[in-house]
Amino acid sequence: MTRVFSGIKPTGHLTLGNYLGAMRRWAAVDQHRADSVFCVVDLHALTVDHDPARVRRLSRQAATLLLAIGLDPKSCTVFVQSHVDEHARLSYLLECVATDGETRRMIQYREKAAREQRRGGSVRLSLLTYPVLMAADILAYGADEVPVGDDQRPHVELARDLAVRFNQRYGHTFVVPRATHPAVAARVMNLQDPMSKMGKSDDVGPGIVYLLDEPDVVRKKVVRAVTDSGRDVVYDREARPGVTNLLEILAACSGGDPKSLAGAYESYGALKKDTAEAVVEVLRPVREKHKELCADPGYVEGVLREGAERARGMARPTVDAAHQAIGLLPAVRA
Ligand code: TYM
Repeated sequence: MTRVFSGIKPTGHLTLGNYLGAMRRWAAVDQHRADSVFCVVDLHALTVDHDPARVRRLSRQAATLLLAIGLDPKSCTVFVQSHVDEHARLSYLLECVATDGETRRMIQYREKAAREQRRGGSVRLSLLTYPVLMAADILAYGADEVPVGDDQRPHVELARDLAVRFNQRYGHTFVVPRATHPAVAARVMNLQDPMSKMGKSDDVGPGIVYLLDEPDVVRKKVVRAVTDSGRDVVYDREARPGVTNLLEILAACSGGDPKSLAGAYESYGALKKDTAEAVVEVLRPVREKHKELCADPGYVEGVLREGAERARGMARPTVDAAHQAIGLLPAVRA
C-alpha cells in the first residue's frame, strides 16, 4: 500500500494556503487511499526566534486543526514530531550524507536567514540543517508520496537526493519519495501582496486568511484584496497576479477550473464577493469542529499519544537499519 507522509510547522496560525495547498487533500483523499501519516513538526518551529509557550500553544492548535479538517485517527496516524525520537536520530545520519553546499542553496534558507539578519538577530544552525530534518521526517516512514504545496518542492527534492545517495553508498535502506501537489492553489498568494506566498510565519496581516478567522473577517480580507490595473477578469499569473490568485482560491473552494471561471466574471467586485463566500463555506465546518474538539482536550491528547506510538513502530525499523548500514553498532535494547 502506498505510504503518504506530510507535516505542518507550528510557527503561526494555520492559513488558507496551508489548507488548500496541502491539508485539504490529506483529509479528502490521502487518508482514504493510502497508509497516511501526518505530523505537527514542532522541532522545525525551533529554527527561528521562538517563544516556548507560543510553540506549545500552536502545536496543540495545529494538532486540533488536523482533526478538525477531518483526519480520522482510524484511517491515518496523527502525531507530534518531538514525541518520536527517530526523527532527530535519522536527521544526524543524513547530515553525514548531505553537503553544506546543498543546504545553503535552499531558497527558503537564504530568504529566512536574510530576514533574521535584517532584524538584527543571528541565524540558528538548525535553520541551515532544517531540510535535512525534513528529509529524515519523510525517509523514516518509507513514504512514497509527500503531499505538499509548491513551496516545498526543493525540500522534497533534497529528500530524494539523500535517499538515493544513502542507498548507493550504504545499501538499499530508503524508499525514494516524490512530492505531489494539488492541481489548483498549490501556491496561494498573500491577498495584499500577490507576488508573495500567503505564509503563516509572516507578520499578522490583512492579506492572510487564517483557518479560524470569523466569516466577517474572511469577507473583509477577501474584499480588500489587492487587484491589478485593468478591469477585465483574466487568468494570467504574470500580468494579473492578484486576480489570478482570487480565481485559484475560488476554483479550489468551489471545485471549478480557474481559467473557465475567469470567463464568468465581468467585474472584480463580483469575483471578490463570490470568492469570499466560497472561502467562508469551506472554512465553516473546520471552525465548528475545532470548537467542538477544544471542549475535549483529553480526546486530542489521546489521539496524539496513540499516534506517536504507532509512528514509533513504523519509523524505528527503518532508522535502525540506517544506523547499521552507515556503520554504527546496533544498540542492545532492554
Ligand atoms: P509549512 O508548515 O510551511 O506548510 C504546511 C503545508 O502547507 C503548504 N503551504 C502552502 N500551500 C499553498 N499555498 C501557500 N501559501 C502555502 N503555505 C504553505 C506547504 O507547502 C506545506 O505542504 N517544511 C514544511 C513542514 C515539514 C514537512 C516535513 C512537510 C517538515 N517536515 C515532511 C512534508 C514532509 C513546512 O514548513 O510546511
